[in-house]
Amino acid sequence: MAYILGIETSCDETAASVTKDGREVLSNVVYSQIDIHTLYGGVVPEIASRKHIDKIIWVIDEAIKQAGITKEELDAVAVTYSPGLVGALLVGVSAAKALAYGLGKPIVPVNHIQGHIAANYIAHKNLEPPFVCLVASGGHSHILHMKDYHDFEILGQTHDDAAGEAFDKVARVLGLGYPGGPKVNKLAEEGDCEAIKFPRPKSGFDFSFSGVKTAVINYVHKEEQNGNEINKADVAASFQKAVCDCLVENTIEAAKSVNCSKIALAGGVAANTFLRKMMEDAAKANNMEFYCPPIDLCTDNGAMISCAGYLNYIKGVRGGLELNAVPQLRLD
Ligand code: KG4
Ligand code: ZN
Repeated sequence: MAYILGIETSCDETAASVTKDGREVLSNVVYSQIDIHTLYGGVVPEIASRKHIDKIIWVIDEAIKQAGITKEELDAVAVTYSPGLVGALLVGVSAAKALAYGLGKPIVPVNHIQGHIAANYIAHKNLEPPFVCLVASGGHSHILHMKDYHDFEILGQTHDDAAGEAFDKVARVLGLGYPGGPKVNKLAEEGDCEAIKFPRPKSGFDFSFSGVKTAVINYVHKEEQNGNEINKADVAASFQKAVCDCLVENTIEAAKSVNCSKIALAGGVAANTFLRKMMEDAAKANNMEFYCPPIDLCTDNGAMISCAGYLNYIKGVRGGLELNAVPQLRLD
C-alpha cells in the first residue's frame, strides 16, 4: 500500500491531493486563482507564482489533513515539474523538495500531461492500457496510443494552437473573458452549431486550430464592420462544433489505425460537455469503449498528479534535490 502526495502548480491552480495506491482519492484540494486572473483577461505568470507561494503550504496541509493521515505516513511526494509556467512550476517543485527532504521521503517528478491521462485511472478503476487518449488542454492537443502506462506513441498532434488556446482566444474575441473554454461551452448551448461554416483543417491525424480561430476573428470583425449584429451563441456553437469535429474524427480514425477499441479523453478541454457527448456517441457508433474523467478531474488538480506519481513511484522514477522546473518538454 502506498500513500502519495501529489502537488500541482503548473498554471493557475494551486492543488494537492493524497491518493492510496494511485486509484483511490483520499483528498483533492484545489485553490483556483481564476478570480484574480479574470481581472486581467488571462493568466498573469508573475501573479500566478505569487499566489502559489501564498497558498501552497495551506493546500498541502489541507490535503494531508483531509486524507486522514499524518505526513509521516506518506510514501512519496509527487510533483508536476513540466510543462507549464516556469515560475509557477518552481513553487510546487520547491515545496515538494522541502517537504520530501524534511520527511526523508522520495520525490517523484511527474509530467503534467501524464497526470491528465492518469485522471482516467482514478475515474475508471478497471481501465488499463492499451487505449487511445485524446489529450486536449490549454497547451496541448495530442492523440496518444497508450500502449502501456509509460509507453506511448503519438498518433496525432496540433501544428499550431492547442484546442484550449483556440477556445480562450475565441472567448476573448466574443468578449466572454477568461477562462474562455467554459464560457464558450455555456454560450454554445444556446446557439446553432450549423449556423456558420468554419474550416476544419486536417492532415492525417494532426490538427490545426489556428485557422479556425482566425476564421472566427475575421467573421466577427467583418460583421462588426458591416454594422451587423453578431449572434454570439451561434458563433460559439459553430466554432465549438468545428473544433470538436476535428478532435473526434481524428481520434476515432487514429484508434482504428492501431486496431484499438478503447478511447479516453483527458485535459481541460475534456471538460467540454459537447465534446464529451460527441466522443461518447462516436465511440458507441464504432463499437468502442469510452472513458472520461469527471469534469473536476479534467481541469488541473492534484489527484491526477498523485495518481501519475504512484505509477512513476512503483516504476522507480525518482527526482533528487536538484530537480528543476522545465517549462517546455516535448512529449516525444
Ligand atoms: O488542463 P488545463 O486545466 O490546463 C492546462 O494544462 O492547460 O486546461 C485548460 C484549458 C483552457 O484553455 C480552458 O479554456 C480549457 O482547458 N477548458 C475548456 C473547458 N474547460 C476548460 N475548453 C472547452 N470547454 C470547457 N468546458
Ligand atoms: Zn493541465
